[in-house]
Amino acid sequence: MEFKEQLKIYQEIVNNELEKYLRKQDVPEKLLNNSMEYSLMAGGKRIRPILLISTYKIFKQNIEECMPYAVAIEMVHNFSLIHDDLPGIDDDDFRHGKPTNHKKFNEATAILAGDGLLNQAYIVISNSLKNSKLEDLSKKLKVFNEFSTSVDRMIAGEFVDTEYEGKQISSEYLEYIHQNKTGALIKLCVRMGAILSDASENNLKKLTNYAEKIGLAFQIKDDILSEEGNEEILGKPVGNDKLLKKCTYVSKYGLQKAKEILNKITKEAIEELEEYGDKAEFLKQLALYIQNRNK
Ligand code: IPE
Ligand code: IPE
Ligand code: MG
Ligand code: MG
Repeated sequence: MEFKEQLKIYQEIVNNELEKYLRKQDVPEKLLNNSMEYSLMAGGKRIRPILLISTYKIFKQNIEECMPYAVAIEMVHNFSLIHDDLPGIDDDDFRHGKPTNHKKFNEATAILAGDGLLNQAYIVISNSLKNSKLEDLSKKLKVFNEFSTSVDRMIAGEFVDTEYEGKQISSEYLEYIHQNKTGALIKLCVRMGAILSDASENNLKKLTNYAEKIGLAFQIKDDILSEEGNEEILGKPVGNDKLLKKCTYVSKYGLQKAKEILNKITKEAIEELEEYGDKAEFLKQLALYIQNRNK
């Protein structure tokens, strides 16, 4: 199957699964639930859950056991986006071609919608743990532990990102920001897929190497798009990193060098998958998609 076709199928699987968790009840906090749904269903690419599912599929085919984690990671990701756009962080007005959560609703609602999505992610995982077979529990607790520590890293990365606005940054600290604010969740997804499918330690290591490289590539590409992307296609502002004097691969190394680094690590990421042949074809194509995407 063509990569684009498979990507679309995966996106539909994830969207259908997320639909099941939307809260439609007529309760006093209905507007908060609407605000959570607004961001969660706004048109994200679903890269993180798709990474989890497609990694799992290298080893096992029945993806059912992945789905609570696929839902949870997308909830956490959207929490991170809602808070990232807030006036106190990046102060952005548009995402997915629509007003950001705090613009559509208000700041208090956006803060709480982010909190709500973060916590709902943990509810989804803990429900799945509660219903797990005893023999699966140790593996699932390992995944849960990696999930929570990776979210912790994402938050740390966001903190350092905001702290360094307008300041000189070393290449080590720049890498630290990227590895944490973006890389941590991307790496987590690949590792969750591998652990859930009982991949060997050696496979886990290889796939982790791949994930670390595409995680960094993902944010470098985000930085490049913030410099020269098309705002209409991107659905979020272009030029905002420059405006806030963000420390990025583009601000540190220039556009040309940033692109060279992106191309180099994408190639390296794909090389990590060599031994899996066709089984990892989708993951290889996904690395290229991350490198070449325009949104
Ligand atoms: C944007 O992530 C935020 C970053 C970590 C760079 P995505 O580009 O995956 O966001 P959506 O969900 O597809 O909009
Ligand atoms: C977003 O980084 C990272 C997280 C939300 C954790 P950016 O601030 O660079 O991403 P965009 O460009 O707003 O999507
Ligand atoms: Mg940011
Ligand atoms: Mg931002």
